[in-house]
Amino acid sequence: MGLLTGDALFSVAVAVAVFLLLVDLMHRRQRWAARYPPGPVPVPGLGNLLQVDLKNMAYSCYKLRHQFGDVFSLQFAWTPVVVVNGLAAVREALVDQGEDTSDRPRTPTNEVIGFGPKAKGVIGAPYGPAWREQRRFCVSTMRNFGLGKKSLEQWVNEEATCLCDGFASHDGRPFHPYGLLSKAVCNVIASLIYARHFEYDDPNFVRLLKFLEDFMVDDSAFMLQVLNSMPLLLRIPWVAAKVLPAQRSFMALNDELLAEHNSGWDPDQPPRDLIDAFLMEVLKAKGNSKSTFNDENLRLVVLELFAAGMVTTSVTLYWALLLMILHPDVQRHVQKEIDEVIGQDRCPEMADQAHMPFTSAVIHEVQRFADIAPMSAPHMTSRDTEVQGFLIPKGTMLLANLSSVLKDETVWEKPFHFHPGHFLDAEGRFVKREAFMPFSAGPRICLGEPLARTELFLFFTCLLQRFSFSVPEGQPRSSERGVISFVVSPPPYQLCAVAR
Ligand code: HEM
Repeated sequence: MGLLTGDALFSVAVAVAVFLLLVDLMHRRQRWAARYPPGPVPVPGLGNLLQVDLKNMAYSCYKLRHQFGDVFSLQFAWTPVVVVNGLAAVREALVDQGEDTSDRPRTPTNEVIGFGPKAKGVIGAPYGPAWREQRRFCVSTMRNFGLGKKSLEQWVNEEATCLCDGFASHDGRPFHPYGLLSKAVCNVIASLIYARHFEYDDPNFVRLLKFLEDFMVDDSAFMLQVLNSMPLLLRIPWVAAKVLPAQRSFMALNDELLAEHNSGWDPDQPPRDLIDAFLMEVLKAKGNSKSTFNDENLRLVVLELFAAGMVTTSVTLYWALLLMILHPDVQRHVQKEIDEVIGQDRCPEMADQAHMPFTSAVIHEVQRFADIAPMSAPHMTSRDTEVQGFLIPKGTMLLANLSSVLKDETVWEKPFHFHPGHFLDAEGRFVKREAFMPFSAGPRICLGEPLARTELFLFFTCLLQRFSFSVPEGQPRSSERGVISFVVSPPPYQLCAVAR
């Protein structure tokens, strides 16, 4: 057969272009459904990917909300997306319609780190029995542990002592606090998962922290979005080899730690940690082909708990200390409350929280103001549903703009300022607020919330009990504007911790 030339080549090109346009239109057909939410016009192939900033979706959505309203649509390559904004729409979507909106979008890129039909983890699991079984297991294990011989509160308090020793070692000189905070938080999760406390200079611990930190600076959101919309591209070996490098390194190290841990497992003894509890379930599930308790899934659940629990909590504490050095009056007020309720002779306990309305208000306000997970984790509709009168068809990616709730101008007195008064009534009593949603809402609400609250309260009060924090002399005041990556962190800063 001869080479195509001239008119024939032109006809083939036109036919291919028409075919591709038809395929593209087919993937966008939802847009023409009655009552589908409005949104910017997508271009063929990439949809709206070039019109939004995937690294700062909250800001892109802030602008689009002004143009299109509280519920609007986007197109990420071939994936239809609906974004919900503001307290009323987010509550309706995640809570009232939670049965329809709690699925997760398929993420074929996760297959490179072991996700598959028998191993779906928790965060990435579709809304169904596999997710329910693992979520229930994680929630009850965290609740029951107590962890072998020690209660979780005791673990956190012991870690808080190590953390304070680390701060004291700087002798009042300026230092960056993030490293110590992340080690303390990582050790709490390590105690829950591996019943293990790492020395802060243990090489395995340093590697573990490095991989978790690498998740944060991963700048491949655009590429991942394209690959997940067009998974055929993952068949190209050099493309697949470049996906999720930090997660792969974590998995390799986790396999070593698991092998070491499991060699000491005795099924006849009470479980030492979450892994032992999981291995018991694997034994019980032998022969049950429907069970999600298997070695592959264990690796993923461990990865997810570290990834979801470490950076989020340590970055929140990092924000808390920044806001204390920038608002010394608030810091003094917290210390006064600590001195009155706890004193200097014993460690803080969770039971103290009920008597410390101001400290509770400050911790809540830190979370509201820091707004570290502005777009939450993506959801997907598992059947057709309605939000604010708009139709959202089955299979649509749903993004809940938590930032628009935490900073909702119709709800908060000073949405863009750090103002603990948001959580206090006129008599100085702590008040819960419906729009406080940093852990999201509905069936997929963060399952680590109780653990995170314990860590935030105990680490924060312990640090303020022992130290006064200040901006180092001669250094400019740091900005309060967050830096966006995997989560929103404060700009890097130094502080001085002077023993009280
Ligand atoms: C300040 C700390 C934390 C914040 C702000 C936070 C926030 C969130 C958010 C926004 C989600 C997404 C919920 C959704 O899809 O709607 C989430 C999910 C999740 N978080 Fe957290 N989180 C924190 C700490 C933790 C901790 C300490 C753990 C456990 C060690 C954890 C484990 C999880 C898990 C497993 C999920 C997935 C839940 C599911 O899909 O059912 N998180 N978190």
